[in-house]
Amino acid sequence: MIEIERYYMLLHPRPAYVIGSGKWSEKINFMAASWVSPIAEEPPLVGVAIDVESYTHELIERYQQYTINVVDKRHINRIYAVGSVSGREFDKTKVFIPAKGSLIDAPIVKDAIGVLECVVENNVEAEDVTLFIGRVVRAAADPHYFNKRKGWNVADNPIPLHNWGRGFYTVGMFKIADKNKP
Ligand SMILES: Cc1cc2nc3c(=O)[nH]c(=O)nc-3n(C[C@H](O)[C@H](O)[C@H](O)COP(=O)(O)O)c2cc1C
Repeated sequence: MIEIERYYMLLHPRPAYVIGSGKWSEKINFMAASWVSPIAEEPPLVGVAIDVESYTHELIERYQQYTINVVDKRHINRIYAVGSVSGREFDKTKVFIPAKGSLIDAPIVKDAIGVLECVVENNVEAEDVTLFIGRVVRAAADPHYFNKRKGWNVADNPIPLHNWGRGFYTVGMFKIADKNKP
C-alpha cells in the first residue's frame, strides 16, 4: 500500500456532469462537476459539492436551484472547457447551448442526454466547498440512450468518466455479476 494525500483520487473515476445554475433571462451559467451523488430516494435528494469560490456557488446560493446534465462522452472537450474557466470571465453558454428548465428557471444543456432539475432543500458547508442538497423535481432522459427499466445503454456507455484534470475515461465494460458467487 502507498499512502495517499488526496484521498478523493481513490473515489475517481466518476461520471462528469454539467451543472446549470442561475435564472433564465437573468444570469445563467454551466460548470463541470463530478462530485455529484444521489442521497435519498424518498424524498428524491441529490447532492452536488461546489467550490465556494465558483460562480456556480454564487448563483445556486442566490436562486436556490440547479440542474445536473448528462452529456455524451463525445463532448469531453466541452465538459473540460466549462470546468476550467469561470462564468465570471467567460460566457459558457457559448460552449453548451442553454434551454430553459421545464419546472425551474435554471438552464439545462440543450443537447443533454439526461437531466435532473433540482431545488435546494438543504446544504452542508465545508471550508472550501458547499454540498448543495437538492430535491429532484424532474428527471428526464433521451430514450435513445436510456431505458426506464435497465437505465443507460451500457453496450456503448455514453457517460464520460473523470479521473483528474484533463484525464477522462470514455469506455466501460458491462458485466452482470454472478449471483451468490463471491
Ligand atoms: C471534469 C471536471 C469535474 C469537476 N468537478 C467539480 C466538482 O464536482 N465541484 C467543483 O466545485 N468543481 C468541479 N470542477 C471544477 C469547476 O468546474 C471549475 O472550477 C469551473 O471553472 C467553475 O466554474 P464557475 O466559476 O463558472 O462556476 C470540475 C472540473 C472538471 C473539468
